[in-house]
Amino acid sequence: MNRLNVGLIGFGTVGSGVIKFLHERRNYIKNKFNTEFSVKKVCDLYIKEQKSPLLRGIARTTNFHDVINDPEIDVVIELIGGMHPAYEIVLGALKNKKHVITANKELLANEGKKLFRAALRNNRDIYFETSVGAGIPLIKSITEGLAGNKFNGLYGIINGTSNFILSEMAKSNCSFKYALQEAQKRGFAESNPTLDINGMDPAHKLAILVFLAFGKFVPVKNIFVEGIENISHADIEHAQSLQLVIKLLAIAKRVHNELEVRVHPTLIPKDHPLASVGGVFNAIFLNADPLGDVLLYGQGAGQMAAASGVVSDLINLAARHNAGSPVRVADLSKEISAIKLRKMDEIETKFYIRFMAIDKPGVLSKISGILGKYGISIASVTQKMRKRSSAVPVIILTHHAREKMLRLALEKITKLSIIKDYPVAIRMEKL
Ligand code: HSE
Repeated sequence: MNRLNVGLIGFGTVGSGVIKFLHERRNYIKNKFNTEFSVKKVCDLYIKEQKSPLLRGIARTTNFHDVINDPEIDVVIELIGGMHPAYEIVLGALKNKKHVITANKELLANEGKKLFRAALRNNRDIYFETSVGAGIPLIKSITEGLAGNKFNGLYGIINGTSNFILSEMAKSNCSFKYALQEAQKRGFAESNPTLDINGMDPAHKLAILVFLAFGKFVPVKNIFVEGIENISHADIEHAQSLQLVIKLLAIAKRVHNELEVRVHPTLIPKDHPLASVGGVFNAIFLNADPLGDVLLYGQGAGQMAAASGVVSDLINLAARHNAGSPVRVADLSKEISAIKLRKMDEIETKFYIRFMAIDKPGVLSKISGILGKYGISIASVTQKMRKRSSAVPVIILTHHAREKMLRLALEKITKLSIIKDYPVAIRMEKL
């Protein structure tokens, strides 16, 4: 029987789920993988007050050095999130010749390259399946299952909280605030839920997927990010009537030998498989060459979904460790692609635009005149109601337009006296 001693740092929702999972599946794991995992020490700032029976027989500490310096510990699991002291924990553990498992997307998005190098230097590995899509094997699929393929496009719903909010708003007409509170109650949201709704959490995850799929480390600050804060019931309903669905998509794709990397609310056709990914579920749709289209789908947040990713990392890591080849086949720190990042201004998409305009003759021609001046061609126009006294929604769908041109046109249109409120523009993707 092989044995691996584990030190766990972070005993929150996911950390306690990992211990529960290991406890419940102990015999199965022993029999199936001939390996026993023993959690030696748990570190958490509030561990002293914890009364959980799951901690019986496990040493407790509030100081992470007690874990990363413990010579008996083989694997450190970092589940505290954030940049610091997570960075010091992961680097320190690797330097002390321990393998690391982390769910920390922000850390890997920002410091992944340095940490992968440190792992290689120390002949140890970092496993991070849970960092994107919780337990859905996205990392393993890209790095191993699809090894050798060339990726042309990647479209992901990779934030469970925002997908849950958009789905609840569409389904039960509840408020944004109520849906967010519900996501927090169910343990999907980050401790700082702003990262979920402002698009930064999926941006961190996208940075990780991009270096795995396209071999390029894209600094998070270079990713265009727009969250779901401004999505209203009105737009969800208008989209529905146009046979479209609004999703917060993380997109990376090759266009004219450049790479587009962006996160924003996106309108997609109602009959695309991603459109039916509801609630806390995540999915990524990949276009790989030569395999073609691949869709990976599952629960992307929540205690046991995340614990599943961490435990699978432990088992996979143990298999390599026990076979005497601790590091992965591929060097993850190696950039293989010289592809240039496309500037957001140059990106071309179709747009849904909602103007709140005064309902009187000549209004449409003023709007369409400005759009035309900026080279933006209209595909359809719908006015949703008639009210002479106040503003009404006018929905315009455009043909492909350059981002920069659209922004300039909207600035001009917003200044017209017939326009009330700043227009809402949502990009559309054909996929
Ligand atoms: N807050 C994240 C989400 C958790 O909602 O997707 C999983 O990374």
